[in-house]
Amino acid sequence: MLTLDLQILGQRHRDLKNGLSAPPKPTLINLLDLATKPRWCWNMLGTPRRQFGNIFGHVKGVDDMSSLGEWTNGQFDPTLNWNDVEWVKKRWGGKLILKGIQDAEDARLAVQSGADALIVSNHGGRQLDGAESSINALPGVVQAVGKQIEVHMDGGVRSGQDVLKARALGAQGTYIGRAMLYGLGAMGEAGVTKALQIIHKELDISMALCGHTDINHIDHSVLLPGTYPTA
Ligand SMILES: Cc1cc2nc3c(=O)[nH]c(=O)nc-3n(C[C@H](O)[C@H](O)[C@H](O)COP(=O)(O)O)c2cc1C
Repeated sequence: MLTLDLQILGQRHRDLKNGLSAPPKPTLINLLDLATKPRWCWNMLGTPRRQFGNIFGHVKGVDDMSSLGEWTNGQFDPTLNWNDVEWVKKRWGGKLILKGIQDAEDARLAVQSGADALIVSNHGGRQLDGAESSINALPGVVQAVGKQIEVHMDGGVRSGQDVLKARALGAQGTYIGRAMLYGLGAMGEAGVTKALQIIHKELDISMALCGHTDINHIDHSVLLPGTYPTA
């Protein structure tokens, strides 16, 4: 999966306001926050790995959280363009998914690039403040390229009904970002499983109450007229 909407880092107002940093700074607020969560602190002290397993030990020179931060900042490429996408596809040789498309013209270019799927995404609203929501952009992208490439969607998917609505508007797949992280923060790996189970169950029940047993038969007829975005 190649992310297209992170060629530079957006201005993340809440992160700036809260002083988010990697590694975290031992400020008074952070220490007070930690003091109110002794069980979490205890579990974190006992955890065998607090690093990114796919980076530490693989990337030369990245051996602590500070060097990870520096390395990450060096990974943004403001010159990323459609030729690079084709180059990545050729070198990779496998299926390529393009993440971060909101616009019909970009979706057509994604088809031309030879990608196998695209994800309608505004990066969870974390990149461009004021960007269109993914669910709003989805029908236009589906109308532009729906049959030529798989169209997926992420952003704001918190429940099984959100998955159902995205499917109803033409997304063949959906993804979760924060819903998974909320589970992870609350209960670790078991919490991620739980989050997926909750979404799965809600999807199942919502489909049943809409009179469906097969996700492939879902279309916009399950939505109330006038309540959903159109192309
Ligand atoms: C903490 C956090 C880190 C993220 N890091 C990345 C990243 O490195 N690359 C990327 O393509 N998207 C990243 N995303 C965006 C997600 O992949 C996804 O597009 C977004 O979270 C979907 O919206 P949702 O959180 O409402 O489900 C990140 C999201 C969060 C919340």
